Amino acid sequence: MWPFKKKNKEIIDISNMPKHIAFIADGNGRWAKKRGLPRSEGHRVGADAVGKVVDRCLELGVEVVSFYLFSTENFKRPKSEVDYIFDLFRKFYKDKAEEYKKKGIRFKLMGDISLFPDDMQQMLKDLENDTKNLKKLICNVGLGYGSRHEIVTAVNKMIAEKIESIDEELFSKYLYTSEIPDPDLIVRASGEQRLSNFMLWQSAYSEFYFPKTHWPDFDAKVVDECIIEYQKRNRRFGKI
Ligand code: IPE
Ligand code: IPE
Ligand code: MG
Repeated sequence: MWPFKKKNKEIIDISNMPKHIAFIADGNGRWAKKRGLPRSEGHRVGADAVGKVVDRCLELGVEVVSFYLFSTENFKRPKSEVDYIFDLFRKFYKDKAEEYKKKGIRFKLMGDISLFPDDMQQMLKDLENDTKNLKKLICNVGLGYGSRHEIVTAVNKMIAEKIESIDEELFSKYLYTSEIPDPDLIVRASGEQRLSNFMLWQSAYSEFYFPKTHWPDFDAKVVDECIIEYQKRNRRFGKI
């Protein structure tokens, strides 16, 4: 189904694609609450939405897609919810890792997973290693991610290396995103208009879009809607 025709006849302009789209996957709990379901159901369906968004980005030839799936602050949630979310990551890996490798998707981890269960740490490191030469789409996933933590960790690393002077380019090399371009578009699901500690450095010139759609309802159509919205923006980067 390409290009995806929307009811209002707006179609994606393939000559003006965002290279890097980042999604803050929010609203799983509200999605579930609206349906009288436990929050866990929202997370379960939210995991399927990640798959749908990956597939659409692949189809559209997007170079990098980022997902913010678990923040440093999300450890403050009840243990039962955190454990359930971790089980969903394990299931996603089991169901999808092989398929995604075959499709040429490179997995990049963005975050500090030292507080994650050992088996998950191993699983994520293996996946990153196994896919490091794949080139079709980079899937950059924020797990245990917090932008301030990322920045402070980078600074401490530079201090340890006795670096005396830095510039923006060098600083960027110390972030998790060193190998990928800054996001052209940041989409936060569910309508909240905040970053919640996501890519504070990298978002300097990103476009923002805050659809009301809760994350579990994200699919190909919503991805198209985000890109069409992006294509209406006039990016000036300080110029006239
Ligand atoms: C996003 O949905 C998932 C995570 C942050 C792990 P939420 O669980 O934050 O859903 P809401 O915001 O409570 O609706
Ligand atoms: C942001 O969502 C983090 C992720 C989607 C992983 P939260 O639900 O944790 O953010 P707040 O608490 O509404 O700011
Ligand atoms: Mg939330």
